Amino acid sequence: MYQDHFSLSASSPAGTAPPAAPAPLRVGLLGLGTVGSGTYAVLERNAALIAARAGRRIEVRMVAVRNLARARTVLGEQPGTPLLTDDPQALVCSPEVDVVVEVMGGTGLARSLVLQAIAHGKHVVTANKALLAEHGAEIFAAAQARGVVVAYEGAVAVSIPIIKALREGLTANRIEWVAGIINGTTNFILSAMRERGLSFATALAEAQALGYAEADPAFDVQGTDAAHKLSLLAANAFGTLPQYPQVQVQGITAVDAADVAFAEQLGYRLKLLGIAKRHGTGLELRVHPTLLPESHLLAQVHGSMNAVMVKSDAAGITLYYGAGAGAEQTGSAVIADLVDLARSASLSPAQRVPALGFASGVQPGLPVVGADDVESAFYVRLDLSRPDATVPRVLQQLAADGVQVQRMAQHPHPSDPELRCLVLLTAPLALRTLRPALQAVEAWPTVLGYASVLRVESLV
Ligand code: NDP
Ligand code: HSE
Repeated sequence: MYQDHFSLSASSPAGTAPPAAPAPLRVGLLGLGTVGSGTYAVLERNAALIAARAGRRIEVRMVAVRNLARARTVLGEQPGTPLLTDDPQALVCSPEVDVVVEVMGGTGLARSLVLQAIAHGKHVVTANKALLAEHGAEIFAAAQARGVVVAYEGAVAVSIPIIKALREGLTANRIEWVAGIINGTTNFILSAMRERGLSFATALAEAQALGYAEADPAFDVQGTDAAHKLSLLAANAFGTLPQYPQVQVQGITAVDAADVAFAEQLGYRLKLLGIAKRHGTGLELRVHPTLLPESHLLAQVHGSMNAVMVKSDAAGITLYYGAGAGAEQTGSAVIADLVDLARSASLSPAQRVPALGFASGVQPGLPVVGADDVESAFYVRLDLSRPDATVPRVLQQLAADGVQVQRMAQHPHPSDPELRCLVLLTAPLALRTLRPALQAVEAWPTVLGYASVLRVESLV
């Protein structure tokens, strides 16, 4: 078991005074919910180990929440317990605080408090991806002008040090694409539906009870949270500011369980992926339910786990796996940023690792390719009456419109015994080519409703 035996003072020759211990890094915590309490617990439990690594102690001096009584139960009553307040403005300008850890969430008050903290010369660590995706340009510029750090490892794929990997480990590389499962809640829901047969609503309620979901879980299930994170990954990979508004986003709310089952019979698994990829002189930025071959490493990522894969020119493909949500799991990343700060706070800003990984040449954005022009293979499901006559016509029409069908299967319709489901896997093509072909087919009286269309990726 780990022993609390680390000492910060070097041994001194007999008769001389020991050197003074370095000043602690003093932290103000904005929020003590899932992430705040996980961060606090790990900082307390591993205090000596963290100090030994950081070179000085990291001490939480102040905590701001709304519900003081609830926070007291987390902090306890021992001597040295941080000052508790329901006035977050007082925390961000307190002379007792060197670094503000923003783990309260939201983009309104959180933005204003982070900007105030920066204006008061405080460094900021945040796990708030919505804040940085939507207001990153303003916040990073303010921090640069004031010479302070804004660090955010906990904001993306919590326990996985993916920001550090992109900014530092892969710094030699021209990155081709970054793709991954970057929302724990939706991966938990898809896994629970598939493995335990839970309904969408029950699986979501479990994810909420476990502290995985956002305050508004629509952010998770509609793909917004993954899009926030993707914009931060892409910024670090390609040297831009976060381009969140340009991300094409589709969540998992419209996923049909029958399509998941049909795709599995063809050897594919459904995952909500975020994909950021070079495309000519621009980028693809997209979040959508995606079919992956079941042998693909990302298809093996279950429950609330996340994984990010990066393809770059020198390192080749690298893969990063770990918890995608949770209290101490996120605390681990928040504290990693605090340790970096404890080590580097006295450096000049030019000597620190740049916020988005590029010391110069960060572009506001690169042109983002529209969904119509993004090429991939597609899974298409059509519900048909009179399949014997309709299937050959469908294939003829698709071929005439330039859609190459590579695999095909038929299944009974999940709820209507009069219908058949025709499932097709196409060769890679642009949605611009597929859409009119499907529109033509959907207009026929023997084709019922709309086609289900899912992108299929191989990511190699
Ligand atoms: P919680 O809802 O569990 O906690 C939020 C905390 O912030 C609570 O302590 C709350 O206080 C406090 N707070 C909220 N509004 C105010 C306010 N106006 N004034 C003072 N305190 C306030 O959220 P999480 O910990 O789950 O998430 C926090 C952030 O971390 C979000 O940005 C989220 O996206 C991000 N994140 C969450 C992860 C997770 O697994 N949950 C993982 C990675 C990032 P009170 O309880 O008194 O209301
Ligand atoms: N709600 C987020 C998720 C928390 O489920 O991934 C971690 O960012």
